[in-house]
Amino acid sequence: MNAVVLRELGGPEKLLMEHMPDPKPGAGEIVVRVKAAAMNHRDVWIRTGKYAGITLPVVLGSDGAGEVVSVGAGVAPSLVGKEVVINPIFEWGKDPKAQGPNFRILGLQDPGTYAEYVKIPQANIYQKPKRLSWEEAASLPVAATTAYRAVVTRGQVKKSETVVVTGIGGGVAVFALQIAKKLGARVYVTSGSDEKIRRAKELGAEGGVNYKTKDWVKELRALLGGEGPDVIIDSAGGETFDRALDLARPGGRVVTFGATLGPTKELMVRRIFWKQLTILGTTMGTQDDFEKAIEMYGSGGLKPVVDKVFPLIEAQAAHGRMDEAGQFGKIVLKPS
Ligand SMILES: NC(=O)c1ccc[n+]([C@@H]2O[C@H](COP(=O)([O-])OP(=O)(O)OC[C@H]3O[C@@H](n4cnc5c(N)ncnc54)[C@H](OP(=O)(O)O)[C@@H]3O)[C@@H](O)[C@H]2O)c1
Repeated sequence: MNAVVLRELGGPEKLLMEHMPDPKPGAGEIVVRVKAAAMNHRDVWIRTGKYAGITLPVVLGSDGAGEVVSVGAGVAPSLVGKEVVINPIFEWGKDPKAQGPNFRILGLQDPGTYAEYVKIPQANIYQKPKRLSWEEAASLPVAATTAYRAVVTRGQVKKSETVVVTGIGGGVAVFALQIAKKLGARVYVTSGSDEKIRRAKELGAEGGVNYKTKDWVKELRALLGGEGPDVIIDSAGGETFDRALDLARPGGRVVTFGATLGPTKELMVRRIFWKQLTILGTTMGTQDDFEKAIEMYGSGGLKPVVDKVFPLIEAQAAHGRMDEAGQFGKIVLKPS
């Protein structure tokens, strides 16, 4: 098969298409022909050496949807031909509150979906919602699960609450906007691009502020009638996280699942205790979070936002787009 392999850390040019042996399913495993894969910022962290536990070479890719082509011992042969979405979560563990020590995500230790075929345990497939295209279905696993857990399981967003999602161009952020809207919340966004704020409004956001050109905390507070939001969903981290604590209303919740900007060097602790804030950390999700996220985009009627589809052979260009935060929604790769 053809697969995109990372043998050295560095820029997008390190992603090279290679010919590799087709994966063979072991006991309890299946092989899926990848119809579409999707990118996550995780892939950039791994490519640039900023992710824990990297061992090279790596076939990146946690997200994918495709057709089951072969099954190993102990797996029902009737699965062959089924159209599935891949669940990239391995060994979450027993506690729904937090993942256990063996938790890992497809596309590092286990060769991922930047390939024509991927091998996974039988338990890691879920029926592809018929109403979604391959590209849309492939967009879901990491980002929709993370967004679902951030907004619903951890954030407990309720109807009529006000929610701010930072960096709306991000893959997870767009899902968070859609899911919070579906729950009946009033959603505001930030972005480094006026065009992305416009797109967010088309998806139902009430408004947004460009963090590159405006004092976004001041502007959002004004947009919200002088008060902060009930909930902030942030994955920018860095200085943005401290500013989010400033924006939050007394008694509010701040949900964090990422640090795209790196560590928060100065954090005013007083904001947390004086305003009685709740800080909620969240990472990926349980099997239940994954299934409920997919259901929202299956029977729930939501549509994933696919930013751009690249042929797998153009993985370098796809990474370049994410490096520059060019995307609004999910960047998808398609094996030929
Ligand atoms: N813990 C987990 O399980 C988990 C799961 C998924 C992702 N993550 C993390 O969450 C982050 C987002 O992931 P993703 O895959 O959605 O990434 P992505 O698609 O690359 O999105 C990143 C977005 O960050 C936004 N951003 C950049 N600078 C910002 C700033 N100063 N203030 C606010 N937003 C800013 C940009 O939004 P605009 O384009 O709108 O400016 C950009 O589009 C990454 O750090 C990733 O590692 C964690």
